[in-house]
Amino acid sequence: MFVHITGTGSYLPEHVVTNDELAAKLDTSNEWIYSHTGICSRHIAANDEYTSTISVKAARLALAAAGVTPDQLGMIIVATSTPDYHSFPSTACLVQHELGAKKAGAFDIQAACTGFIYALEVARGMMMVNPAPTLVIGADLMSRIVDWNDRNSCILFGDAAGAVVLEAGNIPGGIWHSILKADGSGSKLLYREGGSRQLAEGPWMKQNTLEMQGRQVFNFAVKVFDEVLTGLLNHVGYTFADLAWVVPHQANARIVEAVARRMSVPLDKFFMNMETTGNTSAASIPVAFDQMVRTERIKEDDLVAMVGFGAGLTYGGLLMRWRGKAGKPKPAQTISTTGVSENA
Ligand code: ACO
Repeated sequence: MFVHITGTGSYLPEHVVTNDELAAKLDTSNEWIYSHTGICSRHIAANDEYTSTISVKAARLALAAAGVTPDQLGMIIVATSTPDYHSFPSTACLVQHELGAKKAGAFDIQAACTGFIYALEVARGMMMVNPAPTLVIGADLMSRIVDWNDRNSCILFGDAAGAVVLEAGNIPGGIWHSILKADGSGSKLLYREGGSRQLAEGPWMKQNTLEMQGRQVFNFAVKVFDEVLTGLLNHVGYTFADLAWVVPHQANARIVEAVARRMSVPLDKFFMNMETTGNTSAASIPVAFDQMVRTERIKEDDLVAMVGFGAGLTYGGLLMRWRGKAGKPKPAQTISTTGVSENA
């Protein structure tokens, strides 16, 4: 059985905040931000937008692109670190209700900026058992959890949602091989309080914002990016030259450049859009991927790698043979749930 992405969608809030606007309130400058990150502007959600509502906007576009109706969905997974509610209900349940996806189960995954990669792989595994179309969303409102007075971190982030529809069938290609990793020893390099630990230890209602050791996260990201991408290619016996595209987590252009230098590979295969989005956490890879699909940068049969990293620390990636609409299963086909390899 093969699991294909057959539709993509994304949503970026209307309001754009430029580096110059941040520099008017913070001790920073457009030059510093752009030269250290490659980011010029980011989209920030309006007060009446929530992670669930931006997810629904991206999801509707992905469903329309795939030609799948909400009542055909078997599962909805939302990767997010900024759910509508603290703990429960899950954002995925709110999305399920709003879409009217009456037959779908729904749950959230939290693996920070690697969340979308984790969610895709969990979905692929679940589809081996129930091959119904599955909606996977990466969505975050980072503007709600950053400290807007901390120039070390707030300049990096933006808000967005990206979604894909997965369909299973016998057409070769689709998501092929994945690597999911974590190193919890780095949990304090990037974290946000406000959970049950803090409830036991201290005042509950204090404002909790993201805390980050930027330089150490940068160094970690460059090292694990190389490890994941090399691991993916080695596992399938391909080389970087076989790849059409790498879709990196859009954290910082300097991280991506450092990866290309470290691996001695050309930078032009790494798609980057953080200049106008900033780091949108779990949304960053699906938003980038949707833009690549809609601008026809990515072509049928392209071999594509996605690589993410983030708080946890988590990291991971996957390889996919993109078929687009050609990956859609034929009506009433019998799906074999064995034989997952590119050419089987
Ligand atoms: N404007 C001006 N100066 C600044 C700013 C700013 N916005 N931010 C930091 N500086 C200063 C620092 O205070 C420091 O000054 P000092 O030398 O006088 O002490 C100097 O610039 C250098 O600071 P560094 O932290 O060493 O700068 P660096 O080049 O590492 O860039 C950055 C900082 C952009 C945060 C970088 O480290 C980075 O991108 N790290 C990765 C962060 C990341 O990707 N996080 C998200 C992970 S995904 C997730 O799960 C959410």
